[in-house]
Amino acid sequence: MTLALGVLISGRGSNLMAILDAVASGTLDARVHLVASNRADAGGLEHARAAGVTTAFVDHRAFPDRASFERELVARLRDAGAEWLVLAGFMRVVTAELLDAFPGRVLNIHPSILPAFPGLDAQAQALAYGVTVTGCTVHLVDEGVDHGPILAQAALALEPSESRDDLAARLLPLEHALLIATLQRIAAGDLTVEPPASAGGRPQVRFRGGAPRAAGASEPRFGPRGAT
Ligand code: GRF
Repeated sequence: MTLALGVLISGRGSNLMAILDAVASGTLDARVHLVASNRADAGGLEHARAAGVTTAFVDHRAFPDRASFERELVARLRDAGAEWLVLAGFMRVVTAELLDAFPGRVLNIHPSILPAFPGLDAQAQALAYGVTVTGCTVHLVDEGVDHGPILAQAALALEPSESRDDLAARLLPLEHALLIATLQRIAAGDLTVEPPASAGGRPQVRFRGGAPRAAGASEPRFGPRGAT
């Protein structure tokens, strides 16, 4: 199944570029129907245009509240034919307005092993805490910040006295690889999402044949345990 993607960005767009490159090379069976940004100066918009992908600038400041901003995003995404969403450095918290329009089909990439270090500058948070291993997570998005069922994680051991920027630079290719591997497994029909087993529980995500892996990661441990 060719994944019909919408990608939301706010900045540089290297994860978006990884998606576009993987689509172009045939590594990822997907088509990017729309790249939308809440910032006109997001570098990723230029990349998208250069790749011939439709773009939209939707300024959150032009809307009275989050819900109306998200309604506009949903309308643009639906018009463009997007069925799955990737938040690729999208710096706005999303609510039910957006999530309910794409139920169980909104992914986020975050540069830490969640639930450790959600929020801004996860790399700096990891260094400040003094962990020896960090990594990245691809997860389904719920209404929490960097929160929701984990699809795949990849781990990276920290180098002694590594700077925040060095760590971020080493993590980025791992993020790209994990995101593409996860999307491709979804495109292949390997992901199932089952409702929570009990009220207030978490949806159960499973990949046929085991969770996606990213080349270059430390020996990975993916959740949920026992997923097949
Ligand atoms: C990445 O580190 C991603 O994990 C986080 O925001 C950053 C976006 O980078 N959510 P880019 O715009 O994809 O280069």
